[in-house]
Amino acid sequence: MCGIVAYIGEKQAYPILIKGLQRLEYRGYDSAGVALLNGQLNIYKCKGKVSDLKAHVNGTVKEGTLGMGHTRWATHGAPNDINAHPHLSESKNLAIIHNGIIENYASLKEALIQRGFSFKTETDTEVLINLIEDIKQKEQVDLEHAVRIALNQVVGAYAIVVMSKDNPDTLIAAKKSSPLVIGIGQDEYFLASDATPIIEYTKNVVYLEDEEMAIITRGEDIVMKTIQNQPVTPYIEELQMNLEALEKGGYDHFMLKEIFEQPQSIYDSLRGRMSSKEGTILLGGIKDYVQKFVAAKRIIFIACGTSWHSGLVAEYLFEDLARIPVEVEYASEFRYRNPVLYEDDIVIAISQSGETADTLAALELAKSKGATVIGICNVVGSTIARKTDAGCYTHAGPEIGVASTKAFTAQLAVLSLMALHIAQARGSITESRYRGFLTALAQIPKKVEEVLQQNDAIKAIAEKYKDAKNCLYLGRGYNFPVALEGALKFKEITYVHAEGYPAAEMKHGPIALIDEQMPVVVIATNESAYEKIVSNIQEVKARKGNIIAIVTEGDTQIKAIADFTIEIPHTIEELTPILSVVPLQLLAYHVAVMLGCHVDQPRNLAKSVTVE
Ligand code: AGP
Ligand code: GLU
Repeated sequence: MCGIVAYIGEKQAYPILIKGLQRLEYRGYDSAGVALLNGQLNIYKCKGKVSDLKAHVNGTVKEGTLGMGHTRWATHGAPNDINAHPHLSESKNLAIIHNGIIENYASLKEALIQRGFSFKTETDTEVLINLIEDIKQKEQVDLEHAVRIALNQVVGAYAIVVMSKDNPDTLIAAKKSSPLVIGIGQDEYFLASDATPIIEYTKNVVYLEDEEMAIITRGEDIVMKTIQNQPVTPYIEELQMNLEALEKGGYDHFMLKEIFEQPQSIYDSLRGRMSSKEGTILLGGIKDYVQKFVAAKRIIFIACGTSWHSGLVAEYLFEDLARIPVEVEYASEFRYRNPVLYEDDIVIAISQSGETADTLAALELAKSKGATVIGICNVVGSTIARKTDAGCYTHAGPEIGVASTKAFTAQLAVLSLMALHIAQARGSITESRYRGFLTALAQIPKKVEEVLQQNDAIKAIAEKYKDAKNCLYLGRGYNFPVALEGALKFKEITYVHAEGYPAAEMKHGPIALIDEQMPVVVIATNESAYEKIVSNIQEVKARKGNIIAIVTEGDTQIKAIADFTIEIPHTIEELTPILSVVPLQLLAYHVAVMLGCHVDQPRNLAKSVTVE
């Protein structure tokens, strides 16, 4: 999911690759490496930053006018020197860099082991390069042919560049669901996962489409084809963006980019883990712990901030679907409370960074008391991921904006799948509800896309309320935690006070705050509590409060009384949080921009809170 850069031309590749990798650093990564071809195929790679790679290479680099570099955001295997890319094939003749996830790597690996291949890394990527090698040898075909056959056997996402000792003048690239762009210079070509490493050399680029490959040979025109071997005419476009705009993918801020990435990041988090057609769920990370869940008397979620809000949604999910009693604890409170824990308790730590000090300490405490500890983390190989007995990664990709957005919806997607899986294992869910849930989950990425189409309308609402001094967020049931998350997003980046409440609690206190100045954001998408939330809205209106309501499409009743409504597509109630939070992220974002706040790095906040 992270960075690719490659060069073929007349210049020395190494300095271009290093500079390119530095340009890609903004994407977040955990290790870096380069491969250079000059008679020999030399690989240099290590954990850490590009500067660590430079120090590691430290003048030993051989020359080479063809090479490739990679920044890795680990998905399969810890971030360490060995798992860093590029990876070599068994014969050491082929090298690959890869962004993405090969979903069926386990079965491919098994078959390759049977055929005598051995593996040095834990990555899915090494499986792909050995698959290519195996096909090349077995079928007696050239490299391009072998890559094409291999990609037809692969399920998942990839942007790859492959080079071979035997083809010193060629780079082969391909992509599916992960971006890849070719830069066309004077007697030279560049490849990169976005145009930031390319723009200083050329403005002429070709963006590869899914399942397209490019065969790039020194001194020749690019040849492009689909992986079905259909020729493709390269469409050369001229880059209009500057470097900063390119880094943010054309968005003004990383936060906005990440909000818009959610259809993909949710999809990536579910990718390979479920089939709505077959009605199956595969969560490899917890497969040995399913029986523990079946026998569990209680689940305790520990987390902080946005991740704690995910835990609150999970409380509804696990109690409702799997019928297991759930507690959700602030990690910082749990750790100092001498909590009562039993061996049949399951403690689930949720953390984007996997490094939050309070969450880590809480999980260590739980472990010391004999509970089973499970992790839901976004950063592979992070401390929390390593300290838990088992877990599931969220695969949202690196989150740069300090205010968490895509990590939250990815957590909800994974937790929904997990709750459903455990419910089925416990026999607490009917087959039709199980099937209906899976079908609805598969449609969520598409529906998030529909919500995002309302960005302009949400911006117009933000314009109306940008001068508010206080905001109240209300929700019920599954959407009560979304009210908390909406308020947290708002205060984090606008510096305006906002509070989230269960809608029915309003009358026990916060109602005193309501006057004509007060925007009240109500998440009114629950079918089960619809009439009740309409009453809550009436209570606010009776006190002249302003209502911004998040409703299900087609709603007429709330539309008639609210000042503004934002529609989300219909889905099952359990999954509404994934949709209803998106307008709240956008609302906070637009107000923050209008107020001139530092959206990506709000004052006083850190992305990863590694202190108490
Ligand atoms: C979210 O927008 C916040 N920046 C913050 O509350 C965050 O969710 C919290 O610090 C937990 O971080 P983690 O998920 O990395 O553990
Ligand atoms: N899945 C690969 C790995 O874990 C590639 C990760 C990436 O996109 O950086 O090595």
